Amino acid sequence: MDEITTPRPNDLEAFWMPFTANRAFKAAPRLLARAQGMLYYTPEGREIIDGTAGLWCCNAGHGRREITEAIQKQAAVMDFAPTFMMGHPIVFQAASRVAEITPSGLDYVFFTNSGSESVDTALKIALAYQRARGQSQRVRLIGRERGYHGVGFGGMSVGGLGNNRKQFGAFLPYVDHLPHTHAPEHNAFSRGLPKWGAHLADALENLVALHGDTIAAVIVEPVAGSAGVLIPPEGYLQRLREICTKHDILLIFDEVITGFGRLGTMFGTERFGVMPDLITMAKGLTNAAVPMGAVAVKNEIYHTVVDKAPEGIELFHGYTYSGHPLAAAAAIAAIDIYRREDLPARARAMEPYFEDALHSLKGLPNVIDLRNFGLVAGIELAPRPGKPTDRAVRILQRCFDAGVLIRTTADIIALSPPLIIEKPHIDRIFTTLAEAIRAEAA
Ligand SMILES: Cc1ncc(COP(=O)(O)O)c(C=O)c1O
Repeated sequence: MDEITTPRPNDLEAFWMPFTANRAFKAAPRLLARAQGMLYYTPEGREIIDGTAGLWCCNAGHGRREITEAIQKQAAVMDFAPTFMMGHPIVFQAASRVAEITPSGLDYVFFTNSGSESVDTALKIALAYQRARGQSQRVRLIGRERGYHGVGFGGMSVGGLGNNRKQFGAFLPYVDHLPHTHAPEHNAFSRGLPKWGAHLADALENLVALHGDTIAAVIVEPVAGSAGVLIPPEGYLQRLREICTKHDILLIFDEVITGFGRLGTMFGTERFGVMPDLITMAKGLTNAAVPMGAVAVKNEIYHTVVDKAPEGIELFHGYTYSGHPLAAAAAIAAIDIYRREDLPARARAMEPYFEDALHSLKGLPNVIDLRNFGLVAGIELAPRPGKPTDRAVRILQRCFDAGVLIRTTADIIALSPPLIIEKPHIDRIFTTLAEAIRAEAA
């Protein structure tokens, strides 16, 4: 283990931590100070295996030299230049690189700084497209129960997580939701895609019957991550695509976590063989080394919005940091690693071993479901009576103490390790988890 340690901060108060129980955390902090490869290190130098690629982000593992050097080089060449009515070379290169790895036909790329911004951007592009093609009655956006699309007002509105909505009053009007696809009564302990539930996509027909030709777009995560690893039933996404096509509705895949090899292909769309009209991405785009998101759109969407507009600005949307030079440099370097090392194929090759390791947890106390696809796993626990989330958080603490980072949402544990993971890491992660689950039941 490396000798170097990083000093602990001596005051934790000022930082209002996101999606965190601030009071509990500040009373008993869990700090990560350095990272390399599959490992984090605490300020004291203790090793923690990264079972979550940070937050579904660092697919190529931590501290990749090529990415660090690309960022350093770009910072020295040019720190920042605007992309509003100006351009800089590296942002065009980054967009071309992204377009090379998105499915053919989705060749135009709008840059953002996060998944939330990508989602709001995709929703706005969908609305602008419908208007540009003379379908301005199509103002309705359809999300899905238990969907997570970030925390902007657009993403929260199409999102389907009650906790993320209840503090914030009103949302976008003209939004409706499909039912979620989580059906443990039919699909518990599925390996890969669950068999039951393709017909749940037919609920979109009901929404079309209700809303007529006012629907602009449907947005779903191919595999829902943050809501607790909900794997789509076999045939579900195909069915959704068919219904969208039949009724001339855009289909947006939110690939913020499923992109960049996570499901064993560069994007989930390839693994499922279903082509959306727009793809949102972030996180793995730069291996999380610099914040960046993007939306890839079908060529026809770009051409309709841009070519049909009167002279001048065609889309009144953008962020100061859309295509920030440092992020663009990081994205090019990260994509080059994904391709050179063929990390999607690596994830695919590791999937059976990861799946077997996950399902070895079957029969442990309070484990009520196990599910997986690509290098994503969900472990659902029976909540402690009257104390939801408590069991999972206590297991997270036990794992952290034993040197493994996991993620929990409600009483579901989610695993999404870097795609460079080796079998001994998988063994360590699941052995540690099994011990923590048993100890928590004792
Ligand atoms: C599917 C999906 N969309 C959007 C987001 C939001 O991304 P960000 O936190 O970068 O805004 C996330 C984050 O986990 C996500 O999983």
